[in-house]
Amino acid sequence: MVLTEEMMKIIAENRAYFATATADGVPNVVPIGNIKPLDNKTVLVADSYMIKTHANLEANPKVAFVMHDAAKYPYQFKGSAKIYKTGDYYDQVVSWIKETAPLAPKPKAAIVIDVEEIFSVKVGDAGKKLE
Ligand SMILES: Cc1cc2nc3c(=O)[nH]c(=O)nc-3n(C[C@H](O)[C@H](O)[C@H](O)COP(=O)(O)O)c2cc1C
Repeated sequence: MVLTEEMMKIIAENRAYFATATADGVPNVVPIGNIKPLDNKTVLVADSYMIKTHANLEANPKVAFVMHDAAKYPYQFKGSAKIYKTGDYYDQVVSWIKETAPLAPKPKAAIVIDVEEIFSVKVGDAGKKLE
């Protein structure tokens, strides 16, 4: 599944509502500001404060997110996440947050999402699979 240039820009510039679930399917959704694409198939999220979200990802890698202004940016992204607490992705998230929010705490982990499906949530077009 490939993110378009437009989608990559939207993800880089906007807050998202980020959903995970427990292994037995109890959903959890949180607002996430530190989210950006790494390339047209991969999205990076800074785990600075996650508690239920982090526990869910340890048990169940499936995620979904929509953008804060879904009326303007009507996409639903789905994928699988991996957690990195050391290594290149972790170093990348630490320097990103240091640069953009110098007073923020050091991230606990990098969450790297392989985007697997993209749907429209646009009224009139809702549920249509785009990628
Ligand atoms: C506007 C906003 C942006 C946020 N951005 C992030 C973020 O980029 N990374 C993060 O780990 N938590 C972020 N949070 C905190 C999470 O939304 C949430 O409070 C945290 O994951 C704990 O909830 P949980 O136990 O359901 O995971 C943000 C909160 C708000 C209100």
